[in-house]
Amino acid sequence: MLLEVEDLHIAYGDIEAVSGVSFGLEQGELVSIIGANGAGKTSILNALMGVVGVKKGRIMFAGKEITRLPAFRRARSGMRIVPERARIFPRLTVHENLLVGAYGLRKKIDLDSRLKWLYGLFPILEKRLGQPASTMSGGEQQQLAIARALISSPGLLLVDEVSMGLMPKLVDGVFDLLYRLNREEGLTILLVEQNAVASLEISGRAYVLETGSLVHQGPADKLAQDPRIREVYLGH
Ligand SMILES: Nc1ncnc2c1ncn2[C@@H]1O[C@H](COP(=O)(O)OP(=O)(O)OP(=O)(O)O)[C@@H](O)[C@H]1O
Ligand SMILES: [Mg+2]
Repeated sequence: MLLEVEDLHIAYGDIEAVSGVSFGLEQGELVSIIGANGAGKTSILNALMGVVGVKKGRIMFAGKEITRLPAFRRARSGMRIVPERARIFPRLTVHENLLVGAYGLRKKIDLDSRLKWLYGLFPILEKRLGQPASTMSGGEQQQLAIARALISSPGLLLVDEVSMGLMPKLVDGVFDLLYRLNREEGLTILLVEQNAVASLEISGRAYVLETGSLVHQGPADKLAQDPRIREVYLGH
């Protein structure tokens, strides 16, 4: 397993947001965790990145325990996140935002060829390189956040509700891109999403998170057929 999470508990003061969650990803998989507002999706990703503390449980990544490792060391070991609402740096230019993604890397990457590859995936970024990121539209900022995460060629990409606030056509485009990155580039991806329809469509396996606990799991196509899940998450 590339990532293995065992009995994860996350609390904010007295409030337990995640209660005993266990899941894992093999290298090369695209897996999603679907759940409603407040289910604990962002908390789980933040705990994986090391920006939120773990109350109890264990996180293994690439054969090493990282439960208490500082965030910068996790990033260095190849874990990257596309955060909720993109969180680009508004005053930096598009180009500078991209370079932030490569900052502090230990492994040598060929930055120029990596950038060229990214411009192929996101042509709009190349056209906007010199302008402040704040001037980009919401959909463009999402693309920038994905490109910023990809520049380091991560071993595991965490994606937090990338569909939020995007019009359906753009959602399809982003999900299609994630699917291709997984299938064609072999990128291992963990998606967390409210958009069950779109995420189940591209995932191999999925988990359903309800108020801090995983209540269903299995192959994505099976879950998409499950009447309990159809009723709550697919609207029929
Ligand atoms: N910093 C915090 N302090 C206190 N409570 C928090 C904090 N962050 C999250 N919570 C609470 O933890 C629970 C899980 O929140 P989380 O943001 O992980 O959910 P989510 O599944 O990402 O929701 P959404 O789909 O709205 O982004 C919520 O009840 C939330 O109010
Ligand atoms: Mg969230």
